[in-house]
Amino acid sequence: MSTAAELAKIVIAEREIAERVKELAAQISADYQRAVLINRPHEPIVAIGLLRGAIFFMTDLIRQLDFPVEYDFIWVSSYKYASAPGKLELLKDVDIPIEGRDVLVVEDIVDTGHTLKYIKQLLLEKRPASLKICCLIDKPARREVKVDIDYVGFTVEENVFLVGYGLDYAGRFRNLPYVAALKPEVIKS
Ligand code: IMP
Ligand code: MG
Repeated sequence: MSTAAELAKIVIAEREIAERVKELAAQISADYQRAVLINRPHEPIVAIGLLRGAIFFMTDLIRQLDFPVEYDFIWVSSYKYASAPGKLELLKDVDIPIEGRDVLVVEDIVDTGHTLKYIKQLLLEKRPASLKICCLIDKPARREVKVDIDYVGFTVEENVFLVGYGLDYAGRFRNLPYVAALKPEVIKS
């Protein structure tokens, strides 16, 4: 089947993503200038992206932040569709020491909330000076644990499986420049 035949519809167009990323970057820049950089003006913020889905969002976002940024990645694998829902395995931790640093987590999508809750605990144990979370898409329909997200790009209320702009289904579709809903029959097959 061709890619187009597997997609139900485009949910967020390429231009909408670009515009929203710009707005988020402006908002984050203003907030950090006011509340974070004032305390530690010479230290870059540590942006931490979640592999692999967040890479396009991460690179687009941090290039528009109006302050110095270092970046690193965390990689967790999830077993949520297997027998142990919510169980996560840490495949790559941060390499930059973040104690006393200002950390901004960049995630692609928040669904049940388990991943973000786990990441938040993992990072808080390292005692950062501050920890904020920015996600491109909040999909609250299947939320199981409460997580506070500081910056949300888009909220998608429908319970659809999204692909593109980093989001995958079985490793595919990540390089689509837009976010689309996958046809349900593709998931079952
Ligand atoms: P959570 O732990 O259920 O919040 O899941 C978060 C992770 O599941 C995300 O980082 C994605 O990798 C993946 N995920 C959740 N919903 C979708 C979706 O609609 N499309 C693609 N990946 C998703
Ligand atoms: Mg992910």
